[in-house]
Amino acid sequence: MTDRIPVLYGGKPIRDEVLGYGSQSITDHERQAVIEALEGDYITRGPTVEEFEERVAELVGVEHAIATTSGTTALHLAGDAAGFGPSDEVITTPLTFASTAHAATYNDATPVFADIDPHRRTLDPDAVREQVTDDTVGLVPMHYAGHPADIEELLEVADEHDLTVIWDACHAFGGSWRGEAIGAQRDMAVFSFHPVKNVTTGEGGMVVTDDDELAERCRRLRSFDMEYSPDGHDDEPWFQVTEGVGYNYNVTDLQAALGLAQLDRLEDFKQRRDEIIAQYDEALAGIDGIRTPPEPLESDPMYHLYAIEVCEAFGCDRKEFVNAMHAENIGVQVHYVPLHYHPHFQEEFGYEPGQFPETDRVYDGLVSLPLHAEMTEEDVSDVIDSVNNLGIYHSQR
Ligand SMILES: Cc1ncc(COP(=O)(O)O)c(C=O)c1O
Repeated sequence: MTDRIPVLYGGKPIRDEVLGYGSQSITDHERQAVIEALEGDYITRGPTVEEFEERVAELVGVEHAIATTSGTTALHLAGDAAGFGPSDEVITTPLTFASTAHAATYNDATPVFADIDPHRRTLDPDAVREQVTDDTVGLVPMHYAGHPADIEELLEVADEHDLTVIWDACHAFGGSWRGEAIGAQRDMAVFSFHPVKNVTTGEGGMVVTDDDELAERCRRLRSFDMEYSPDGHDDEPWFQVTEGVGYNYNVTDLQAALGLAQLDRLEDFKQRRDEIIAQYDEALAGIDGIRTPPEPLESDPMYHLYAIEVCEAFGCDRKEFVNAMHAENIGVQVHYVPLHYHPHFQEEFGYEPGQFPETDRVYDGLVSLPLHAEMTEEDVSDVIDSVNNLGIYHSQR
């Protein structure tokens, strides 16, 4: 018997304040670091950005890390460095944020969607194989929620067809697969440091790679594609020239100082996320009609999202579930409306609803519950109680 009527059906909200699905965690440690950076010589890209890049490269175990203004611009740079261009096709997942596909579209290539493996919710290697044509040059898998894609098999597909791989690891910073950091896999990986992600720099992103040439190309494009010491001009120190259409994707030392301070707390962030996930798993696994996220396979992910699937047996559909949670002030979210439902991808590339059945099936029930390092025990139990209570209410109707 439920002791509380869900607010959607006339009861009172479980909490007065909205609990967001994601949030940054900022302490005096970060505040102090940013103030110190502000008092330094550089407030644009300076030595602190370099230090941040070195720390990330070391943490991931790669040669190069190139900081940019966002995960989106990191994908742009990586796609450009990979040489994606007009008449090229780049295969990616429809169950992602639009920026994943922009590794192709920003570079005038065509994004080609392949269906997902519904267990991992990431690109299905066999579906990828079916989409490969003579024009396919690249692959952009995304580690959904932080859960690693089928890295081994996707690399095999890339080898079979000589594809450049850009891992969209925007959800997965801080995790590992077979003892190797997520992001260390070839050819490049991309992180986002948006406030809801595993660590933040306000806005920010990073390309990581072991490849010297790709790294150099990303660095140049990030900053105007400028040659600062062209051959034959050694005695003309002012002679700096652009060699192509580059961008200004420079990040500031202030952001890098914030990022470095966040990295100091990375283990704590992971531990807190893991604790919350364990509590959710235990409490929700037994509820009829709730499918909890997949178990990690050969990996120790740092999860960005805790995405459940609400199935028929729960007694209401996803829409009602989301509205019921919002009414309780539990800020659940859906990641994502698949890209073949977006007008841009439909109008430009002819995608249609229903084209990717596994993606559609997963999407139908998908809901991300709040997950971030600042959540208190009370926050966690508010979420669990709300879900539980809604399930009981439906079972008694
Ligand atoms: C999977 C994925 N890729 C790329 C991005 C873009 O990152 P940013 O917001 O830093 O541009 C996001 C951001 O939400 C994302 O979730």
